[in-house]
Amino acid sequence: MRHRIAPYTAVLVVLVVTWAISHDSIRIKETARDLMGMKSLQQVLPPTILPSLKCDLSRRCLHDHFAIHIRSGAANVVGPKICFDGKIIMSHLLNNVGPGLNIVIVNSETGAVDRSGYLNMKDGVSEDILAYLKEIKPGEIVIVASFDDMTTKMTSEMRDIFVGMGSTLIHSVSYRDNWVFAGTGGIGKRSTFEKRAANNETTNIYEGWPKVIEVGGCFPRST
Ligand SMILES: *[C@@H]1O[C@H](CO)[C@@H](O)[C@H](O)[C@H]1NC(C)=O
Repeated sequence: MRHRIAPYTAVLVVLVVTWAISHDSIRIKETARDLMGMKSLQQVLPPTILPSLKCDLSRRCLHDHFAIHIRSGAANVVGPKICFDGKIIMSHLLNNVGPGLNIVIVNSETGAVDRSGYLNMKDGVSEDILAYLKEIKPGEIVIVASFDDMTTKMTSEMRDIFVGMGSTLIHSVSYRDNWVFAGTGGIGKRSTFEKRAANNETTNIYEGWPKVIEVGGCFPRST
């Protein structure tokens, strides 16, 4: 057996040595750069034009985009989470979420969070919910995450308002489905920030509820 192992050992040694050399060469380059007085990119660029890595995204957003990460609730147990521009605005831990539609409204020019809260779609008042949705102004960024159930008080008129913000799935959201969405008030252009998980006995992972869904990315700022 020994003569069989030997070639593999040799290959391994070569790999380790190659790795060590390449690793070292990176260090050598860094040292050389330090010696030459060069600074890293982060030190050279002023902070305002440095792209940011926020909301646990895997890529950086350009300065004319906002980092957004939305996660739905898990059954009626763990609340949803909405992160905007590096800050968690709503979450179970912050204790500011509730059953239905958890919603954050942002000024798309300044990036200021204008209002946030949840629309209780289980036992809220339909008229109040509709009035709230109608108050959303054209151009405002609307970020939404479902928790528990978001359809009991949902009307067709409310769904149409989300269509007007760029939703293409809202009309198929049913009892206890999960839904996450980000769109822009009154724009109507299809949003890529949308996912739905259907409450379906064969695919549910919690008893009576579908899986948690999330969507994240760089959302364009209005100019
Ligand atoms: C539930 O999911 C299964 C498997 O994907 C599918 O065949 C079935 O039609 C779904 N049921 C409903 C009510 O959508």
